Amino acid sequence: MVHFSDFDTRGYRMVDVATGYGQWVETYEQTVEDVMDLALLDDLTEPRWPSVRRAADLGCGTGRTAAWLRRNGVAATIDGVDLTPEMLARARARGAHDRLTEGDVRATGLDAGAYDLVIASLIDEHLPELRPFYDEAWRIAEPGAACVVVAFHPHFIMTTGMPTHFTSDTGESVAISTHVHLLSDHITAGLGAGWTLAEMREGVVDERWLAVKPKWERFRHHPVSVAMVWRKGT
Ligand SMILES: C[S@@+](CC[C@H](N)C(=O)[O-])C[C@H]1O[C@@H](n2cnc3c(N)ncnc32)[C@H](O)[C@@H]1O
Repeated sequence: MVHFSDFDTRGYRMVDVATGYGQWVETYEQTVEDVMDLALLDDLTEPRWPSVRRAADLGCGTGRTAAWLRRNGVAATIDGVDLTPEMLARARARGAHDRLTEGDVRATGLDAGAYDLVIASLIDEHLPELRPFYDEAWRIAEPGAACVVVAFHPHFIMTTGMPTHFTSDTGESVAISTHVHLLSDHITAGLGAGWTLAEMREGVVDERWLAVKPKWERFRHHPVSVAMVWRKGT
């Protein structure tokens, strides 16, 4: 197992998830780049978004992921779960979800076998272990369901030594509890939970990234995020 502290080049003060996102909420939408996650969703060849009937959006945050689903033809019920009340309040105001619940992605309280899409975007680095997440996704998924995971790429965390972080209202850079998961950690946890990997895409620092982060020229072609589509075989 690898630890973020072995790679940390920033030394930012680190806070827990609810504390961090509770403070980041004010500026979150302006700082998260769509190319990190939404561009990868754009590139996936499955699932067929318009045919989704019931979706669970785990770690739904302010509702960016659900808004993307709505723009891409998902007319289904979307239930969101997140443990940060301030993020959920933004999602509620946005209105892309049908139901929002304060809870943990590892024990959502959602109905078993009820969803044909489980999606979790940009939450994996906050989980010390991946298996409880993949197990819970499996529990709430119906046979044949897809589980779409967008993750912070371990290569990028290791290369930059940069945790997930935000700038506080006093100007301090504050890190939010960050864990490094190798791609093989995802594969092992997903397969172990019963999922079959159907598609995987890695997003690299390219022109789209450099347009919003010119300082990342030195990271050109380095992978920064990854999307995986898992299937619950029938
Ligand atoms: C980077 S945001 C991603 C939000 C949204 N999916 C998006 O793509 O914009 C991470 C979110 O995951 C939530 N989160 C992190 N760990 C969680 C956990 N164990 N259970 C529930 N939510 C969690 C945080 O509260 C935060 O809202």
